[in-house]
Amino acid sequence: MDDKRLAEVVKHIDQFQESCDEFLSPLCNPCNKKVLIIGSGWGTEVAWLLKQGAKEIVGIDPAPRPTNPLNKYIAEKNLQGTYKITRGTVDDITEEYSEHFDLIISHNVFEHIMNLEETFKAIPKLLNKKGRVAIFTAPLFFSSCGSHLNIKPWEHLWGNLDDIKSKVPPFKWSDYTTGMNKMTLTSFLECVINSGAIVTKLYTRPDRNIQEFPKYIDKILLKNKISLFDLTVEGISIEFFYHVDKN
Ligand SMILES: C[S@@+](CC[C@H](N)C(=O)[O-])C[C@H]1O[C@@H](n2cnc3c(N)ncnc32)[C@H](O)[C@@H]1O
Repeated sequence: MDDKRLAEVVKHIDQFQESCDEFLSPLCNPCNKKVLIIGSGWGTEVAWLLKQGAKEIVGIDPAPRPTNPLNKYIAEKNLQGTYKITRGTVDDITEEYSEHFDLIISHNVFEHIMNLEETFKAIPKLLNKKGRVAIFTAPLFFSSCGSHLNIKPWEHLWGNLDDIKSKVPPFKWSDYTTGMNKMTLTSFLECVINSGAIVTKLYTRPDRNIQEFPKYIDKILLKNKISLFDLTVEGISIEFFYHVDKN
């Protein structure tokens, strides 16, 4: 990785600390906890967890991400503690970390997970009896920025896809066509419910472009069979757990 790219990724980690503060802090307190990050990416949440005083930090992500930007950020901010990042998905670590974690967090990842049902089967196996899960996921595919591309609000749902493809970088187009699971609030909650979870917090983030929604509704509905509800939920915040002590 050249110096320019290194600096860009360090900046990315720094910029997203605020997002962790805003969306994860209301859901969980990682202090002194053994924490798993689902979708640790470049290490945004590792850095955030070090600041929160987590006792143990494990990240899992299928994408290969060198850790030199994260280590540079940690050194620059003089953060204390260690972490481990494994390449793979939660299914790969259910034996190694059986009933291990006090807390599982995830930030801006669940809208990318292709095998959601499998992921929700693995999560309870990784939690200890007092374990909790805190997830913030956004932007959902059908929201105005759900394409993750720098285009007009909901343009992926009303615009010409060839035009869009011609104005975005090829790797972004590939992420758009292969990297989004198109889940809605309803389909996500179905997975949560079917996994046997007990929900303790649930918030939605309204679409950031909701004021402009009336301008686009007709164009969107001409091309898509989708509810106004799903078009206007940008993100989901949720906390849940599994174990019920019957004694
Ligand atoms: C938008 S990035 C977010 C990364 C990081 N959480 C952050 O906010 O900086 C989405 C991440 O989800 C990861 N991802 C995709 N499918 C996954 C899966 N099944 N399990 C864990 N992570 C996954 C991707 O590799 C990518 O790093």
